[in-house]
Amino acid sequence: MNFEPLSPSIGAEVQNLDLSQPVNDTTFSAVRDGFHRYQILLFRGQTLTEDQHIAFSRRFGELEIHPAKQYLMPGHPELLVLSNELKADGSRVSIADGGIDWHSDLSFVREPSLGSLLYAVRVPEDPNVFQDTEWASMYHAYETLPESMKRRLEGLRAVHVFDQDQNPRLPPVDGKYRDKHSADLKARTPPVSHPLVRTHPVTRRKVLYVSIRFTIGIENLPKAAGDALLDELFEHQARLGGSYRHRWRKGDLMMWDNRCTNHRAVGSVVPQPHIRRMQRTTVKGDAPF
Ligand code: OGA
Ligand code: MN
Repeated sequence: MNFEPLSPSIGAEVQNLDLSQPVNDTTFSAVRDGFHRYQILLFRGQTLTEDQHIAFSRRFGELEIHPAKQYLMPGHPELLVLSNELKADGSRVSIADGGIDWHSDLSFVREPSLGSLLYAVRVPEDPNVFQDTEWASMYHAYETLPESMKRRLEGLRAVHVFDQDQNPRLPPVDGKYRDKHSADLKARTPPVSHPLVRTHPVTRRKVLYVSIRFTIGIENLPKAAGDALLDELFEHQARLGGSYRHRWRKGDLMMWDNRCTNHRAVGSVVPQPHIRRMQRTTVKGDAPF
């Protein structure tokens, strides 16, 4: 097993590791160290059953069951399905993309995810049809803020919410898709607050913990002042852009650290009749501090 960096700043491909086989403790501990060092890890050419995907993910900790129950794989609630496939009645099998807008998975819960493991089950065969995913280091986003801004952020907490209708910064995806949340889902995912600047529990480095997808305000600031501050932070992130963009191949498994990276699906949802089908496990994390 060896690591091959994916970009100068973030990411590594883990080579010569078959995740369908049990991974011994020594190898696993090297993988976990690499995860903390590189923030995102790519395992190419995997052939995984649902159970193998879940079993490898569990090595990192307990798994989350995503609150949007309609997207879970029947019989395997640990797996969130992302697919552009349609049912016979024309409705979507699941969400067609996990997020066109920058985000960190499940930042809208009290104890947000430590990391996600996304596996490409099916991707379009036509090389001209694709939907990439890109990642940005939020260590880098914090470190490149002006000192005056770092001081302004000290002690502030940001409000995160799942329901898109509470986030006026988000236009519908491709001008048409908008997830409608049921009253029950809204009740189970009320807004929560987290430190704007969090400390990664393992590396102890500081992270700018906000995203345009889920962060809608700043606690204890008047709305206009909070919005203006968030606009500045989102502009800063937009200026920096992504650090690694991935073109998916079938059998890729990508794992990322939700505590120190943001990610997004780039471009449009894959058009019919092409199929992009992914499945994701989400490892539970701790309350940010
Ligand atoms: C996710 C996600 C983006 C994509 O799985 O959490 O945001 O490109 N996916 O599918
Ligand atoms: Mn996501």
